[in-house]
Amino acid sequence: MIGAGYVGLVSGACFADLGNTVFCVDKDIKKIDMLNNGHLPIYEPGLSEVVNKNYLSNRLRFTTNLSLAVKESDIIFICVGTPSSKKNKSADLQYVFKAAKEISKYINKFKIIVTKSTVPVSTGDKIEKIILTKKGKKYFEVVSNPEFLREGEAIRDFRFPDRIVVGSNNKKITKKLESLYEPLIRKGATFFSTNRRGAEMIKYASNAFLATKISFINEIANLCEKTEINVDDISIGMGLDKRIGGRFLRAGPAYGGSCFPKDTKAITVTGDLYKTDLSIIKSVIKSNINRKILLMERIKKILLNKVKKKRITVLGVTFKPNTDDMRQSSSLLMIPYLQNKGAIIKYYDPTGEKKEFSKLKNVYFSVDTREACKDADLIIIHTEWDEFKTIDFKKILKRKRAKIYDMRNLYNPIKMKNLGLLYYSIGR
Ligand SMILES: NC(=O)c1ccc[n+]([C@@H]2O[C@H](COP(=O)([O-])OP(=O)(O)OC[C@H]3O[C@@H](n4cnc5c(N)ncnc54)[C@H](O)[C@@H]3O)[C@@H](O)[C@H]2O)c1
Repeated sequence: MIGAGYVGLVSGACFADLGNTVFCVDKDIKKIDMLNNGHLPIYEPGLSEVVNKNYLSNRLRFTTNLSLAVKESDIIFICVGTPSSKKNKSADLQYVFKAAKEISKYINKFKIIVTKSTVPVSTGDKIEKIILTKKGKKYFEVVSNPEFLREGEAIRDFRFPDRIVVGSNNKKITKKLESLYEPLIRKGATFFSTNRRGAEMIKYASNAFLATKISFINEIANLCEKTEINVDDISIGMGLDKRIGGRFLRAGPAYGGSCFPKDTKAITVTGDLYKTDLSIIKSVIKSNINRKILLMERIKKILLNKVKKKRITVLGVTFKPNTDDMRQSSSLLMIPYLQNKGAIIKYYDPTGEKKEFSKLKNVYFSVDTREACKDADLIIIHTEWDEFKTIDFKKILKRKRAKIYDMRNLYNPIKMKNLGLLYYSIGR
């Protein structure tokens, strides 16, 4: 595995758990040192057990030595980041191409080179060209095997995936990958193969579709707020239709995370490149940006436009529960915005203090929910960690007039009202 981040580390550990010998290579020495000293660089439920078990049995190794790992391996997965380019909205492929160049230097026998990173259509062709400058065609094959695991559920998603997608223009190689995944296929995972460009496209189209579903219900929630309808009922009523399905149909903050924002942007760039207007995805991106602004306006409204000196508590700052990943979390915009308006902010997150807020004046990390909430004028439930689902607000709130803005609809509005709490939520 080239890249020992969320994808490379989880997949590497899980492939080792299936009996393979795996090298996780990363150029980040600190990360590799941590891993070799028994510490995980990321928070992911269940990961430490899989890593420890396979590290101790010597099936899983961590190294910065790419040459050694490439020479020893039959299959090489590229799992490096593909963030949004700083210049335009496309995927920045510099890490992928650098990895391909490095791999090409150390190919000593036939290798299957698999792109697990999310890459735009035809990147596989470019990787092939890069490697061809150093090694002949008979030494390697480039395959696409996009990753669909969700942070927070990554181990389960690896072991029980909805589908495994492999894109290759060579049937023999597809068979080889099918046999690598055979233990998962035996347990019921569907193996789907297509050509290389097809697999690259499946990943982007899937993420763009899921982002569309989220934005769709978020906009419906806006309408529900104006028409005195409970959006949760709409999600259930719609989701019961098997053609629609209930997942990803829960209203909340703007979508964030390390994938949807960058992947929706990148696919529209691909569309433009091939003179195809992906107008639906473009309007999803716009809707999501608007949502960030809309929810900040709503916070201001809840505080009757008096944000200055208000004590605001944010519960959960990551983009979703069970991960420490802060990339593109809507809290990254919300907290600085409120701080800039003069609010005094306390935040609590089960994965600890965040460096992203450490330099902000009047923004403080609290060690638990009670400490974070007790003096608040407004509590914002931003991430639906389980521990935020059963808070006894009556007991911990010192201020009787404290308000609660539940951005995840975790509580029943009628029950909250009956308890005498000033409770606001999304689309209800
Ligand atoms: N995070 C997710 O939930 C998820 C899910 C599906 C797909 N993906 C995709 O998988 C890819 C990786 O995502 P991630 O979240 O794991 O990224 P990440 O930033 O957590 O990890 C990438 C790692 O690659 C390392 N790296 C970069 N260049 C290297 C090189 N030349 N040699 C060795 N190591 C190198 C970096 O140091 C880093 O540790 C992205 O394309 C992403 O879109 C991510």
